[in-house]
Amino acid sequence: MSRKRVAVLISGRGSNMAALIDAAKDKNYPAEIALVVSNRPDAGGLQVARTTGIAIEVVDHAKFGKDRVGFETALQAVLEKHRIDIIALAGFMRLLTAGLVEKWHGRILNIHPALLPAFKGLDTHKRALEAGVKTHGATVHFVVPEMDSGPIIAQGAVEVQPGDSEKTLAARVLKVEHRIYPLALKLVAEGRVRIENGRCLVDGAPVPESNAATPSSA
Ligand code: GRF
Repeated sequence: MSRKRVAVLISGRGSNMAALIDAAKDKNYPAEIALVVSNRPDAGGLQVARTTGIAIEVVDHAKFGKDRVGFETALQAVLEKHRIDIIALAGFMRLLTAGLVEKWHGRILNIHPALLPAFKGLDTHKRALEAGVKTHGATVHFVVPEMDSGPIIAQGAVEVQPGDSEKTLAARVLKVEHRIYPLALKLVAEGRVRIENGRCLVDGAPVPESNAATPSSA
């Protein structure tokens, strides 16, 4: 089995990156983490990545000013240089243009700390608490040009507890993120996910809209 070559794109602490790296240590996992890319030279996750021997590239967006296309041309060049098959965004805090996203259609994933389509954007845990939702969670989805809107591959839910703060809720959701991202990447790398009418089918069947962290066929 040839393993898919994955680039994990980060901007910060990189805990989801670390979860993907851990999962890919298993020789039977269908993807290898071939590259870590950061748009920030000071991203905490780079220190973790450096201990793994995985190739690292820093494409510093600040050097490109407002030139998004210049930044993405440099990004695309490193992805090609490392013969990347799949991109996994993991706390990557740059919006990508439609040009780049369309080039990677069906091969670029993101993790979002909410049950999409609820709470797109930032401060998801704060907004979930303010809204009084009883169930919150995380979503892995394909990236489309519109932010946090692509077809959903996997979701995992947590109950909101009385007395939860943003911090306690975020910590509980993060554990779910670390579980569902490796699962979703596995399904995509195995070629088991098909996009049909904006929805993901896994092995030809619809993904349950909630708590699809462990589809019985996975
Ligand atoms: C995660 O909560 C992820 O869902 C969001 O950004 C955060 C990144 O955390 N997109 P980490 O860098 O993976 O620890």
